[in-house]
Order: sequence, then C-alpha cells, then structure tokens
Amino acid sequence: MSSGLLLCLVSCLAATNQAMLIKRCFLAKVLHEEEVEGLEGYTLNDWLCLASVESNFNASKVNENADGSFDYGIFQINSHYWCNDFRSHSENICHMDCQDLLSPSLLSSISCAKKIVSKAGGMRNWVRWRLHCAGHPLSYWLTGCHLE
Ligand SMILES: *[C@@H]1O[C@H](CO)[C@@H](O)[C@H](O)[C@H]1NC(C)=O
Repeated sequence: MSSGLLLCLVSCLAATNQAMLIKRCFLAKVLHEEEVEGLEGYTLNDWLCLASVESNFNASKVNENADGSFDYGIFQINSHYWCNDFRSHSENICHMDCQDLLSPSLLSSISCAKKIVSKAGGMRNWVRWRLHCAGHPLSYWLTGCHLE
C-alpha cells in the first residue's frame, strides 16, 4: 500500500469520527434555541459540563453498562429507563428509539434530557454531572460562544 493511500485511510477515518464530535459553542447555540436555560434552575453551563463529562461532545458515543443496558449519545442517556434499543428491557420514558439519540441534530437527545432533568433529582440523575459539575465553577464553559 502506498503511503499516500495509508495517510488518506488514517485521516479519512479520523474525519468520519470527528463528524460526530459536536463543537462546544454549536451545542450551546442549539441548547439556547431549545430553551433549556433556567429549566429546573440549571444553566447553559450545567448542560455543557454535562455533555463534556458524559460523552466529551461525541454525539455518536454508545457505552455498555455492567447491567447490560446501554448509554446513548451526547448526554449518554440510558436504555433501561429512557429509550428503547430493542435489546434489553426498557421503561422507554422518552418514547423514542435509542438510535435517535445518536442523531447529529441533537434534538432528540435534548428533548429526552429535558424530561430527565424535570424528574426528581434533576441533573443529579447523571452520576458524572454530580461528581464533576455540581458545585464546581462552570462559567468558563461559555467562553467565546456568541449566542444569537
Ligand atoms: C465517538 O463514539 C463512537 C462510539 O462509541 C466511537 O466509536 C468513536 O471513536 C468516538 N469518537 C471520538 C472522536 O472519540
């Protein structure tokens, strides 16, 4: 194989992966448009921190849990409670196919996450948010982002 082709293989594959990486300020803009601010008292910074600690802004992230359930998308939403992935029991509280949570439009993820936030515990339902975002200074998450 020529080194040129090898280079393309490596960089083209990287490009495919990166297509699902969401830019921080783009996410801020979409969240702002979807009016998450103030919902249950959480700020845009809380939401950005959540996406960072859960998926590192990877909208296509899927992770298998020890109990056989899976976490999907930018907010790592769990199939046991929130969406149906047709491979394990699900309460499917968000009434959606887990695959929808991998869409780069992010709209299904945001809509389901809003529902989770509105439940008892709010963002504390995400262990990583509780550990890494709650009570931490978060204002820098919006640095350089121009909403509107
Ligand atoms: C995003 O998540 C997918 C699925 O878990 C993974 O295959 C891919 O490597 C991740 N991309 C990056 C850039 O981390």
